[in-house]
Formats: sequence, C-alpha cells, structure tokens
Amino acid sequence: MLRYVTTNEGKIAEAREYLDDVSALDFDCTEIQSDSLGAIAARGAREAHAHADEPVIVDDAGLFVDALSGFPGPYSSYVEDTVGIEGVGRLAERERDEGQDDRAVFRCVIAFCDGEEFAASPDPVDRGDRVSAAATGPTDGEAGDDNGGDSDASGPPVKLFEGAVRGRIVEPRGDGGFGYDPIFEHDGTTLAEMSTAEKNAISHRGRALAKFGEWYHERK
Ligand code: IMP
Repeated sequence: MLRYVTTNEGKIAEAREYLDDVSALDFDCTEIQSDSLGAIAARGAREAHAHADEPVIVDDAGLFVDALSGFPGPYSSYVEDTVGIEGVGRLAERERDEGQDDRAVFRCVIAFCDGEEFAASPDPVDRGDRVSAAATGPTDGEAGDDNGGDSDASGPPVKLFEGAVRGRIVEPRGDGGFGYDPIFEHDGTTLAEMSTAEKNAISHRGRALAKFGEWYHERK
C-alpha cells in the first residue's frame, strides 16, 4: 500500500480523491536546510522509504511572494510560527515597489520513492511537469538527476511532482483552511473563504497529487 507521510487527516482525505489505496504514515522526516522544496521532499521520501519499506510519498509546500523575491518559500512553516501570516502580509505590502503587483504562488512538491528504478520514465527523476512548472514562476532549483535536487543524497531514485497555484497577497479574510489561506486570494476569493472541495480543486497540493496519481496508476 502507498503511504503518505503526514499526520494531517485533511491531506489524506485530499489524496484519496486521486489515489485508490493510500494511508497515513506517521514518520518524522529530517527537514534539510535547502531553498528547494524538491530537495527537502526527496530527502524525506528516501528516509521514509528506508524506514517503512513500502512505497511512500512526502510533500513539501510553501508560499512564494513575488515582492519578497520568493520569501518565505521553503521557510514558510518557520515564518508562519515566528512572523505570522499577517506579518508576511505587512512585509509584502512594505516591500512592494510602486506599481509592482501583489502576486504570489503556492507550490507543493510531492516526492515518491519505492526503492526501485523508474524504468518506464524517460528520466529517473522528473519534476512531473517541467513545462508548467517553468510557466508558473520561480523554480525550486531541482536538478534533473536522480537526487531530486538533494545534492547530499544517496539511495534510491525519487520522482518529483509539482503543483502550483497563483494568487495575490491580501488582508486576511475567511475562517476556513489553515496556514496562509486567509491572506492568499485566488480569483477574487481567499483560500480560507473556499469550501474544502473548492480549495482542493485548485490547490497546489491537489494539482501535484493529480499529476502523481495519473503517473502512479499508469505505472502500477
Ligand atoms: P507543509 O509543507 O504542509 O508542512 O507546509 C509548509 C508551510 O506552508 C506551513 O506554514 C503551512 O501552513 C503552509 N501551507 C502549506 N500548504 C498550505 C495551504 O494549502 N494553505 C495555506 N498554507 C499552507
């Protein structure tokens, strides 16, 4: 069975929309210091696979604000806990140049590892969709090698799938969701104002899961 390394039931419910057979794995992956979501997720996937000896997926997500040159990005969790989401909103407002837009992108990378080579894949490790990743803004700097951008890595290959959603940084609105949802507006609605189903349909994680699900079903 495929294991999703998370303790978040919402993520498992979301993953079940794209995958027939997936269950949670409570495992504390090492979060390496890196500016690459892919490298962080890849390291976690290798560790989790070595621990569980089952096919695993590990995700890593972050909010990349244009006016802050992509900050907080891979540091989103730490920044949420320290500066807070309203602090990020104020920082973005302050740093925005006259006439510069208030855009940002949420990114999620899902890393898959089952200890095997990806013989069916043209590239042993792939970003899932390089073209759309390139079109959606700053890249995470993953290499196209079998390290998933994790330059210290050794071990089995990892395959990466990226999803992104573009939006604007706004004053907090809405009570739903979690994390940065209240300050991230997509098509006029903040993620915190959306129902779970509405958010999942457009979310960075939903998009990454959809790409992974398609590949995984074909591979099985
Ligand atoms: P993680 O990779 O799921 O641990 O998320 C990293 C950081 O991004 C945390 O601060 C989360 O609160 C934030 N984050 C991840 N996904 C979302 C989302 O869908 N909405 C709002 N914040 C998110």
